[in-house]
Amino acid sequence: MKKLLVILQMLLLGFSSCVIEPEKNNKTNADMEMEKAFTDTLDGKKVQMFSLSNKNGMSVAFSNYGATILAIQVPNKEGKLENVLLGYDSAKDLFAGKSYFGCIVGRYANRIAKGKFSIDGQSFSAPQNNGVNSLHGGVNSIDKQVWDAKQMNDAISFSIKIKDGENGYPGEMNLTVIYSLREDNSLVIDYAATTDKPTLVNVTNHAYFNLTGDPSKTILDHDMMINASRFTPVDSTLIPTGELKEVAGTAFDFTTAKPIGKDIAANEQQLIYGLGYDHNFVFNANDNKTPAVVVTEKTSGRKMEVFTTEPGVQFYTGNFLSGKEKGRGIAYQYRTAFCLETQHFPDSPNQPSFPTTLLKPGETWKSQTIYRFSTIK
Ligand code: GLA
Repeated sequence: MKKLLVILQMLLLGFSSCVIEPEKNNKTNADMEMEKAFTDTLDGKKVQMFSLSNKNGMSVAFSNYGATILAIQVPNKEGKLENVLLGYDSAKDLFAGKSYFGCIVGRYANRIAKGKFSIDGQSFSAPQNNGVNSLHGGVNSIDKQVWDAKQMNDAISFSIKIKDGENGYPGEMNLTVIYSLREDNSLVIDYAATTDKPTLVNVTNHAYFNLTGDPSKTILDHDMMINASRFTPVDSTLIPTGELKEVAGTAFDFTTAKPIGKDIAANEQQLIYGLGYDHNFVFNANDNKTPAVVVTEKTSGRKMEVFTTEPGVQFYTGNFLSGKEKGRGIAYQYRTAFCLETQHFPDSPNQPSFPTTLLKPGETWKSQTIYRFSTIK
């Protein structure tokens, strides 16, 4: 319909203007309230809300602060739209957030042991902001900065320049993240990065999902399939030991779908270290065509499939949520969401056998992850 209107408009204008403005109509009062709550200024830069919607009524809201996904409204089996993300209620809460709700993390997502790594014989150190380790790119990293934004018809592009030396990482990096919403209810995330000096890159999105649409419920009854026969076991500080361990016979076997809560309390050392699942799974395929992860939730009938070009995923079960983070009228409690952070493996720079996260000048790092929503009966 919208395309038809655009064509009609172009005909009427005699093709004089082919700039297609983002859809501004069909906004409910709630949408406008949300837009207001997420409009602010930080470091002299304008923080704004953006949104995409498709003909099925699915809509996704974003902020240029942290290139964050604020909310994803998708239909349940009765067609009722509900938000399946944990999120905040205002830009101020987003600025103060400590749990990485929906934002982009990098330039190195996940952990680097003691923040130390070397490239071409030169040593570097990133801030130790997670016990002795460095997590999610360091302090006030790209998740805490205002990105440049460009809204297109069915996509939004966020870009940022990460300074040479910022958080200890070498090289000025130009990073772009494009979110597109397709008519088959897929939210597609395309990443691209370049650098002017050899550096590390591992960038992902940190959305917290609860497919019931009710974030006061835990996610333990969601059924999950992860197409991974191996995972990367960790030490007590959540740094991989280097082993790629078979999931068979452990609580980490999600190769056939099972409820997230089924084995989460098993007496396994890895679950004790992670306080639940907080581990990197090694995909059997990362061709972006075979579903890497499939999650279904019976009461709502919602299904989410994940496709990716990344070799792994951090499956995190909200083990650090403790009621301190608030939004949507509630305090988010323990295990009321899960994250599927598609990625290269944690601490790759110190694990020569893991796929490399090195990016050199002249190269472009590209990555794509798709979250596709549908329903089951
Ligand atoms: C990642 C980490 C977790 C936790 C969350 C944010 O998923 O692996 O340990 O730090 O981010 O709270």
